[in-house]
Amino acid sequence: MREQLEALQKEAQADLSACGSLTALNELKVKYLGKKGPLTAALRGLSGLPAEERPRFGQAVNSVRARIESLLAQKEEEISRKELKERLLREKADITLPGRRPPRGRLHPVTLVMDRIKSIFVRMGFAVREGPEIENDYYNFELLNLPKDHPARDAQDTFYITGEYLLRTHTSPVQARVMRGNEPGAPIRMIAPGKVYRCDYDATHSPMFHQVEGLLVDRDVGLSDLKGTLELFIREMFGPETKVRLRPSYFPFTEPSAEVDISCVICGGQGCRVCKNSGWLEILGSGVVHPRVLEMSGYDSKKMSGFAFGMGVERIAMLVYGIDDLRLFFENDLRFIRQFEREAVL
Ligand code: DAH
Repeated sequence: MREQLEALQKEAQADLSACGSLTALNELKVKYLGKKGPLTAALRGLSGLPAEERPRFGQAVNSVRARIESLLAQKEEEISRKELKERLLREKADITLPGRRPPRGRLHPVTLVMDRIKSIFVRMGFAVREGPEIENDYYNFELLNLPKDHPARDAQDTFYITGEYLLRTHTSPVQARVMRGNEPGAPIRMIAPGKVYRCDYDATHSPMFHQVEGLLVDRDVGLSDLKGTLELFIREMFGPETKVRLRPSYFPFTEPSAEVDISCVICGGQGCRVCKNSGWLEILGSGVVHPRVLEMSGYDSKKMSGFAFGMGVERIAMLVYGIDDLRLFFENDLRFIRQFEREAVL
């Protein structure tokens, strides 16, 4: 019996040292310690022994059992540690691999220029107001002193949604919206940036483009206020050496009206291809608000007066960046868009 127990322990030791996985180890556990295993059988056979031999034999069986249990536990720890080590090696992240940079977006040049225009006027105390892109005839034309049969409407043909609703041809209707939305007679100092639409398409015209409108209404506002404000804006935008000239013009909503020119940003006024040898570039339309425009929107033109202006943002961006075809702004060619950083603006 004793020899059998010893042989059993040796066999278990040999099995265990050959064992390489937790699954195999479990099988060994069942084989030696399970209910059908040799040790259980040996204990069961105890009753067949003479009474005086039982304690010694029982002890011997228990000590072999304890020995095998401790070997199993030892082996289990050894294998787990080995498997963990292997898994860690297998799953090791290579932190020397350079990170993937997400592509960085840029602001569109029109947005960059729009932001600069806004920021200059905001610093002069102008509020930023917005109006709808789908406008009605009344606001887009009538309230700006452009009645139905007015010839100046021809210059602003647009896309009609119905007979009454259209895509606004300019940001000027925001003038009427702000005046009418205000407490009657309250002073106004606002700009209205946004998209406008016209049936045009060539190197200097696009069916959709951007404008910034300006309106200032208060007591005793005149042409000199308009000139001073625009000069300040232009020198901030194009540099302090830029010359400004007001040229008489016509708009139905202003009287008098003026076209504002700046000395050519390309040749400095000497004359070149861009300024068509005149030394001047037209950048915006403006004027003293027509009394009828004030009256139609609830302002007493005997007490209040104002000035207004409207500029095309793409045109200004073309001058700032020296771009000769406006359609480039809308083609979304990244090779073009990528050239403009905030810092690159004049
Ligand atoms: N709305 C005019 C246009 O789109 C631009 C303009 C001219 C706006 C004179 C004004 C202004 O406010 O006073 O052609």
